[in-house]
Amino acid sequence: MSLFQKTRALPGTLAAQLSIWGIALLLCVFLAGMGCHSSSDAALPPLTPQEERGKAVYDARCVACHDPYSTSGRQGPGLKGVFRKQSLPSGAPANDDRARDAIMFGRRNMPGFQYALEEQQISDLLAYLHTL
Ligand code: HEC
Repeated sequence: MSLFQKTRALPGTLAAQLSIWGIALLLCVFLAGMGCHSSSDAALPPLTPQEERGKAVYDARCVACHDPYSTSGRQGPGLKGVFRKQSLPSGAPANDDRARDAIMFGRRNMPGFQYALEEQQISDLLAYLHTL
């Protein structure tokens, strides 16, 4: 007697086997999805110590007005990819000098940080902004 005939002879068992395989398949899809998620996180390069320090300054001083993970605005423009474009939101060239000026001296509705932050902190901030 072949295997096929055996399973046909026992439809209840076949149904049970199918549902076990179905559950196993669902589990695989679920785990694969989780694996995918964690591997895409792992694909992001870790921040260097300087970028980490910049992120700490950003989280304390800038995040309330600037979303780091989106280009949509809070009180100020979102800064995702700010240095990956040719120009800053104001139209000034997207380079460290222009961004440093904006941070030090402020802009229309942005306060300046020249007295609130040390030069090193602003350099750390710029390093972090390059990772966005
Ligand atoms: C009180 C809200 C506020 C805070 C806090 C703030 N900003 Fe801004 N920022 C703004 C606004 C509003 C603009 C848009 C200014 C304009 O009208 O050109 C802006 C613009 C900018 C720009 C773009 C400049 C350009 O030339 O387009 C950069 C870069 C920037 N901010 C970085 C920062 C950083 C880094 C911090 C933290 C040290 C910070 N901002 C803190 C409100 C803020």
